[in-house]
Amino acid sequence: MITPHINARKNDFSELVIMSGDPIRVRYIAENFLDNCIEVTNIRYMLGFTGYYKGCRVSVMSHGMGIPSAALYIEELAQYYHVKKIIRLGTCGTVQKNIKLKDIIIAMGACTDSSFNRNRFSNYDYSAIADFDIICNINNFAQYMGIPLHIGNFFTTDIFYFKDRKIYNLLKKYNILGIDMETAGFYSIAAEFNIKAMSMCCVSDHLKFNERLSSNDRLFSFNNMIKLSLDTITL
Ligand code: HPA
Repeated sequence: MITPHINARKNDFSELVIMSGDPIRVRYIAENFLDNCIEVTNIRYMLGFTGYYKGCRVSVMSHGMGIPSAALYIEELAQYYHVKKIIRLGTCGTVQKNIKLKDIIIAMGACTDSSFNRNRFSNYDYSAIADFDIICNINNFAQYMGIPLHIGNFFTTDIFYFKDRKIYNLLKKYNILGIDMETAGFYSIAAEFNIKAMSMCCVSDHLKFNERLSSNDRLFSFNNMIKLSLDTITL
């Protein structure tokens, strides 16, 4: 055992990792997009795979839901497996009227209600941002492939079911495009360990229109994001 939560051997991971919350989605990516793919870790069924995309070695790893879960996997990948680049593929909510279910949003930065970054950053406000080169490259690929993207600010929350919906008006006013549960923590850990990081999400919940994707659609409306992320990370 190398880490408490990952039972891969030392060189089992590529430096390039695509991460996503759901292990079933991760297996779907590995089985449908990678060649010669092997399962490298499976503790708690938090699956990880390594294979080849267009000849380039790349890994896919699940991270569960919320900052605490995602953070420990990202930190272990950084510390013990020397990962250098991570693109996270997630789902998110939105409150913006011009954004629809299944649209793709890139998190250029992320605000948060979590205390995670303050705890790590001497109680100051940490500005959690994505890697600029990854954003540029993915934007170029998206234009080339004719895939529309929204690029802007996120709000990373610890609360999926807000009782007080007033927060949605605030987020709309401050031009928050996507609401997820991991990105702000992901970006601060990436900064600490010098990892190039970017989070992109497919909209699964429209919180103004009260629309939600089915669990099956959540899982499989990901193909454009998978292609974009693999082309970009292996560039
Ligand atoms: N809120 C927070 N995280 C999410 C949501 C949401 O509505 N949808 C998908 N991830």
